[in-house]
Amino acid sequence: MGNKLVGYGAYLPERVMTNADFEKIMDTSDDWIVSRTGIRERHIARDNETVADMAVFAAQRALDKAALEIDDIDLLIVATTTPELDFPSVGVQVLGRLGATKNQPAFDVRGACTGFIYALHTARAFFTAGMHRRIMIIGAEKMSRFIDWTDRSTAVLFGDGAGALIFEHSTSSYSGIIDTVVMADGAGFDMLHGTDDHKIAMNGPETYKRAVMSMPHAARYIMDHAGITADNVDWIIPHQANQRIIESCAERLEFPLDKILITVDKHANTSGASGVLALAYAFDNGIIRRGQLILYPAFGSGLTWGAALIRV
Ligand code: ACO
Repeated sequence: MGNKLVGYGAYLPERVMTNADFEKIMDTSDDWIVSRTGIRERHIARDNETVADMAVFAAQRALDKAALEIDDIDLLIVATTTPELDFPSVGVQVLGRLGATKNQPAFDVRGACTGFIYALHTARAFFTAGMHRRIMIIGAEKMSRFIDWTDRSTAVLFGDGAGALIFEHSTSSYSGIIDTVVMADGAGFDMLHGTDDHKIAMNGPETYKRAVMSMPHAARYIMDHAGITADNVDWIIPHQANQRIIESCAERLEFPLDKILITVDKHANTSGASGVLALAYAFDNGIIRRGQLILYPAFGSGLTWGAALIRV
């Protein structure tokens, strides 16, 4: 059984923090940040604004776009690595906050920056098995919870936000989530992980090297698996970590830069929310049109990496 995309929604916190704001609190510069990462600004949630709050906004907007209500959703999957509570899941909190009454299941997946791909992979499996007819996937992250505001090497890289997509079953196998691949290498733990005191421990240069190998690896794998070439793909929406990483991946894949969607300048790295926020931005600004084929590679802590092919 196939599926099709019927709704999308995004939420970005109101507060925008520019590189100039960082210049006031640490020894850094707009020049350094832009030249090394492409990031110009990021949205930072209020102290009392939670991952679930952001997820609820994105979910409601996706439901509105699809003219659906929460009880029309059979399964809710949330990709997040930054929930405030160990339990219950953000997914169940979203169901409660949106007034769901059908006892439909919800759960979270943790795949760090690859989380949304892991969620798409899970949703595809449920559609393939014919077990759910309408699935909402949310990527929601409050990366600012993990920011050490005294560490210039990581603080400038991240932002907060949430995005949601709704897919429903379809008899066509050429639309919606067409294919997914997910991979992991636990030996890469030391390269990038959260610490006991909720900080980000990262070897930047090593992470960079693995990112520019892994995203093209996943992208090539999924194109081969689906029997397509770069010419068949309308847009690449890569995980938005760093403009240099994105450009290097494009070069390795021999993809022209005008087929690559970049929002890292506006959102910074929102981990599991980054690709879906970029997709929502592209729809809202008329960049991506219905029916186009999107290749969505991602890479993150774990190490984890993967890719999805989605016809929107
Ligand atoms: N402002 C000014 N100087 C800085 C800053 C800053 N914000 N951060 C680091 N520096 C300094 C360092 O202290 C170092 O100074 P030194 O030479 O005097 O010691 C110098 O800049 C160079 O540091 P490097 O770490 O070598 O800089 P690099 O060119 O590798 O860029 C960066 C660092 C941007 C973090 C890069 O390694 C990178 O993008 N790595 C990938 C990390 C990433 O994206 N992680 C996100 C999660 S994984 C993912 O989503 C893909």
